[in-house]
Amino acid sequence: MAGRIVAGVLAPHPPHLVYAENPPQNEPRAECGWETLRWGYERLRKSLEPRDYDVIVVHSPHWKTVVGHHFLGLPHFASKSVDPIFPNLFRFNYDLNVDVELSQAIADEAKAGGLTTKMMTNPEFRVDYGTIISCHLANPAWDKPIVAISSNRAHYYFSNEVGQTEQLALGQATARAIEKSGKRALLLASNSLSHRHFTEEGELPEDMSNEHIYHHGQYLWDMHALKLMREGRIREFLDEMPDFIEQSVSECKEGSLTWLFGALGIPTYPAEVHAYGTVIGTGNAVVEWDPSRAAVEAK
Ligand SMILES: [Fe+2]
Repeated sequence: MAGRIVAGVLAPHPPHLVYAENPPQNEPRAECGWETLRWGYERLRKSLEPRDYDVIVVHSPHWKTVVGHHFLGLPHFASKSVDPIFPNLFRFNYDLNVDVELSQAIADEAKAGGLTTKMMTNPEFRVDYGTIISCHLANPAWDKPIVAISSNRAHYYFSNEVGQTEQLALGQATARAIEKSGKRALLLASNSLSHRHFTEEGELPEDMSNEHIYHHGQYLWDMHALKLMREGRIREFLDEMPDFIEQSVSECKEGSLTWLFGALGIPTYPAEVHAYGTVIGTGNAVVEWDPSRAAVEAK
């Protein structure tokens, strides 16, 4: 049977969300915080429950690679991940399994499509916190293997338009490899939306009286982006994304969401927004695309 994408999710990775959940793997302890987004992830997990999947494929902004697209290439990685900006919030002991077969298959498919790829086979490699946080919040049980894909810098070294073309091609290659694999995959794009943030932290990080969007213009851009997602207007969103990136300093510049759109075939069906909320002033949304809706909408 052909493999398929069971869902594609915009699954942002502020370390604050894991901190506030207090999982045993994370050393710092929190009282509460950022409930809107955490309950959004809870709704996502409930929504995914009836659809079983074999593997999580995640594209993360914080594994930054200059030459090509890199993939975890060993079956197991374990270490401690410390957020360089928020070591007070995120010191997470991870122990994860990789679906190397699918990882290699996506890399091969991307290479055949003209992209530069590389497998990461250094056993000492420290997996980035974006990968870990998105995977943890989507599946805290860690009972599925993952495929992790790096964020190539084409947006930075060339232009937003060139970066977008690369990421769409990488997404299409990902979809082709999944289809050939016969596996059911959950896809996670790990970036935030608007990304202008405060530069000073309050004494108590989870004091929600300090938490709000950085700037109204950022909020307007986020609401516009979410409207396009909810109305299935992704082609339009992609056309506007270079401006969105520049004007809202969006983390979409890291390519994760564009990769997801490529893998989903640029959806024309509505997405489900499970939550929108801010973290240190940045805009974050948990958004799900269910490809089975494409067939329903087409009728
Ligand atoms: Fe980030």
